[in-house]
Amino acid sequence: MHSSPPALMKLLGIELPIVQAPMAGVSTPEMAAAVSNAGALGSIGVGATDAEGARAVIKALRARTTRPFNVNVFCHRQARSRPVVEKAWIERLSLEFARFDSTPPSVLQEIYRSFVEDDAMLAMLLDEKPRVVSFHFGLPSQERVKALLDAGIILFGSATNLSEAQALVRTGVHVVVAQGYEAGGHRGTFDADAHDDRLGTIALTRLLARNLDVPVIAAGGIMDGAGIAAILKLGASAAQLGTAFIACDESRADDGYRAALFGEAAHHTVMTRAISGRPARCLANRFTVIGERTSDDEIPDYPIAYDLGKALHAAATSKGEFGFGAQWAGQGAPLARRASSADLVAQLADEMTRAST
Ligand SMILES: Cc1cc2nc3c(=O)[nH]c(=O)nc-3n(C[C@H](O)[C@H](O)[C@H](O)COP(=O)(O)O)c2cc1C
Repeated sequence: MHSSPPALMKLLGIELPIVQAPMAGVSTPEMAAAVSNAGALGSIGVGATDAEGARAVIKALRARTTRPFNVNVFCHRQARSRPVVEKAWIERLSLEFARFDSTPPSVLQEIYRSFVEDDAMLAMLLDEKPRVVSFHFGLPSQERVKALLDAGIILFGSATNLSEAQALVRTGVHVVVAQGYEAGGHRGTFDADAHDDRLGTIALTRLLARNLDVPVIAAGGIMDGAGIAAILKLGASAAQLGTAFIACDESRADDGYRAALFGEAAHHTVMTRAISGRPARCLANRFTVIGERTSDDEIPDYPIAYDLGKALHAAATSKGEFGFGAQWAGQGAPLARRASSADLVAQLADEMTRAST
């Protein structure tokens, strides 16, 4: 397989080297369909739902487009149950709940099932056969990868360093998404507790483009056509943009999230694990302040911590406070724009052409 934008576009059946990032909780079938209909690759994140929920999302997408799209699943390792840590974390955040006349849950649940053990999700994907399935937080077993490959599905996997990328390629993944430290949302690191070299998008993209025989899609801090053109020059076969799509009409981002994105907080994104239990880049808010005063070992595993994070956000929003939301965004957040997803793709394509000539 040749690693160039035209080769990847041909493989995927798309016209533009642009991928709208899967964003669980933010991307919608309407967004993904609009992006795919505009010639790029639309994506939906189904990591926060079960097989039947994911099937409904795929059906909603298929009702709106006949073009290829990407379905993204989470491959995190099973959370460790650490009752002492969980109890202490609940107690710590109970002060915040009290501010909103609320009490925290007494026990926390592992709210998302990892694709690595979700047989129903695998069966659903083999049945629905989306053009692309992408993995975040690692990889499922070789057996599961083979089943998806045998079904003719193209596989993407997120990598934050060369060894993760090589593991993806060894297992048969066709395309590596190079996620730089600038990126919004959860870091795709396979082991959230391992040392993180925090490679930026440019260094990581060059490293992977020079060392892998498969196409590389660059993700992190890319907000406009100039950024896309630049990263293609550096060896990426496409660019994956998440933050750029948060304020699109079809996004599920709530008013508080949108207001923060266009305010001062956009200039101060923070990598925090306090909200979900895994490092994720978020607009600076009341939750990221808590994270900055907390050591990693005080926070329960992903997604157990997220159960409490979501409960606190719900308690706060019921009193009109949006500052405890998972307001994921990358370092390019101040460059976000309000548009329909189709218009944004058209603007990106136009800017890219102008930047390349
Ligand atoms: C709101 C939001 C939600 C995200 N959710 C997911 C997800 O469900 N799955 C995934 O693989 N990546 C997710 N990401 C990360 C993106 O795939 C991508 O790495 C990132 O958006 C690129 O950086 P940028 O936000 O600076 O464009 C998310 C990013 C954002 C901003």
